[in-house]
Amino acid sequence: DSEGTQNFRMSEIIREALERIDEKLDAFESTDEKWKKIRKILRKRDKDKILERALEKYYNAEELKPYQAELIKLQHHLERTGKKMIILFDGRDASGKGGTIRRVTRYMNEKHYRVVALGKPNSIQRTQLHMKRYIEQFPQAGEIVLFDRSWYNRAMVEPVMGFCTKEQYRRFMKKVTIYEENFIDDGKTTLLKLYFSVSKEEQARRFERRKNDPLRQWKLSEVDLQAQELWDEFTEMKYRLLKKTHTKKCPWFIVRSDDKHQARLNTMKLILSSTKYTGRSRTLDFLPDPAIIVPGNKELK
Ligand code: ADP
Ligand code: AMP
Ligand code: MLT
Repeated sequence: DSEGTQNFRMSEIIREALERIDEKLDAFESTDEKWKKIRKILRKRDKDKILERALEKYYNAEELKPYQAELIKLQHHLERTGKKMIILFDGRDASGKGGTIRRVTRYMNEKHYRVVALGKPNSIQRTQLHMKRYIEQFPQAGEIVLFDRSWYNRAMVEPVMGFCTKEQYRRFMKKVTIYEENFIDDGKTTLLKLYFSVSKEEQARRFERRKNDPLRQWKLSEVDLQAQELWDEFTEMKYRLLKKTHTKKCPWFIVRSDDKHQARLNTMKLILSSTKYTGRSRTLDFLPDPAIIVPGNKELK
């Protein structure tokens, strides 16, 4: 259903339920009993769980808000101190990178963050250093850059799909962490490497939904269509990636993202834990859930 029809059905359910509640409730009942009746009526009316799902969406959005407010403070702090942040969002297609990026940046000051999603390299870029076009996008003082896929394409999509040679892959894997350690050498840059992890079944479900939803169809690409068939090839590359490119200074964090809301919430906690900033809330819980955020070296064991 489109959002419009959903909202319409939701208001129908609520209207009908309110009428029933009017008929059924006895003014002299206890509040507990009234609530019980109201819930029962609502459940009966909400067979397709439209209302329930809308409420869940609402609660989820509300739960993110205090963390989004903290992200604004973090951003201010970067601005004031001239520090920089680079966050990589890697992982399979439909693993929830884009949706997380949208929520992380939702309330940030547009002047001080950029989302970078580079398309396939053109014929000139193909002849240049692989890292070049990514480095060109690096943050200036006070800025956060979020890469929706990164230079690690050369460790996953490119070798699996045959977009690079074995030699190019080998050289990349050998050098990449040396580059990265140089990037953060100025002591002003935080580099956070996130790998969004989705199960094969959930990826299939998300592709199915993309096929049927006019708001999501654009996301379905050539590369996506092969993601299920090439599942094991991607898995193999993921393990090689973790083995070779998880270092103490530049570690990977796996984000379990079958549950999108938990993935988003815990990504925010991880970002907020990765650097100091002034004015941090003392009451919020910033500890990422270890069932959702897993250090890259742990994923190998
Ligand atoms: P998205 O992840 O945005 O849905 P795609 O699924 O189309 O994008 O492609 C996945 C990644 O593979 C993208 O980062 C894209 O730039 C890259 N890619 C696609 N085709 C090529 C190619 N011929 N050479 C190198 N990279 C490519
Ligand atoms: P990927 O998107 O490449 O991470 O694929 C991950 C698949 O492996 C998903 O089905 C994950 O749920 C599963 N997986 C791998 N390691 C673990 C783990 N330690 N705990 C739970 N699931 C895991
Ligand atoms: C998403 O679900 O937002 C994806 O990770 C984006 C994609 O499939 O490339």
